Formats: sequence, C-alpha cells, structure tokens
Amino acid sequence: MLKEEFKVNTRAGAGRVKQVGPRKILVLHGPNLNLLGTREPATYGRVTLAQINRRLIAIGKTAGASVLCFQSNHEGALIDRVQLAAKQQIAWIIANPAGYTHTSIALRDALAGVAIPFVEVHLSNIHAREPFRRHSYFSDLAVGTVCGLGSRGYELALDFVLRQA
Ligand code: DQA
Repeated sequence: MLKEEFKVNTRAGAGRVKQVGPRKILVLHGPNLNLLGTREPATYGRVTLAQINRRLIAIGKTAGASVLCFQSNHEGALIDRVQLAAKQQIAWIIANPAGYTHTSIALRDALAGVAIPFVEVHLSNIHAREPFRRHSYFSDLAVGTVCGLGSRGYELALDFVLRQA
C-alpha cells in the first residue's frame, strides 16, 4: 500500500480508509506493447510506450488526476495489477490487453471482479485485421472501446474518463 495514497479516517471509524489526493486512473498495457516504436510500425505507429505514458500522465496532471501506467508481458502480473487497483481505489482503468484481448478469460475475470469501469483501447483496428483479432473478451464489459486511432486512442479514452464524475 502506498503511504501517500491512503489515510486512515479515524472519525469515520476504525479500519475505514479514505482516499486522499487526486483521482486515480490506471493505464494497463498488455504484452509486446513495450516494443511500441519499433514493433510493426506500419500497424502500431512509431510512438513509443514511454511517449504515450508521458503524455497521458501530463494530461492527467493538468486535469488534476493521477495517471498510473503499467505494462507487462505476463498475464498473472496484469491480473495482480488489476486486483491491486481495487485496493488503491483506482476510479477508472484504460486497458489495452494487446494479445490477451483475444485469449484471456482470466484477465477479463479480474476486471469483472474488481468492478472498476474501464475503456478498452487498441492502436490498430482489430476489426480490419486477421479474423482471430475480431473477438475481444473485454468489449462487452467495457464502458466503451477505441480502436484504430493509433496512440491518439489512449488520449481520447483519457479525455472521456476525465469528463466522468
Ligand atoms: C493491439 C491489437 C492486438 O490484436 C494485438 O495482439 C496487440 C495490440 C492494438 O493495440 O492494436 O498486441 O491490442
């Protein structure tokens, strides 16, 4: 538990924790997205993951929100991060499950389990690619999806999230 993110609210009763500080948004990046910039640039563009994250953090800061970014190539690590998000009182998740979009019931279950609203993002238009990419285990749970708009898709998703109460 991060010290600066929680404070015991003694007046509200023992054991209750109250969120202090800015609203928190988690950006979750799945496998191989660490390679953005050099990975199949014709499909995913030339913007790196670090550039995307920096931009999202800056946009969040301007809006008074705290944007936390996490990438992993491992399904279990992504699931652990989603479970931690609930304990951290993350208000929204922006998720690009990458290859796990099309395979991971377990990551879907994690998002359903924490019941944190999320927006699904894909850089490429998954509906205009190979047939196996057309099915997502996440879209029916997501508040909305953005796909095919490259790295701008993350910014559009964040813009939407920042406008939610
Ligand atoms: C992706 C699309 C997925 O099909 C693919 O496996 C990825 C990236 C996208 O952002 O376009 O890794 O999620």
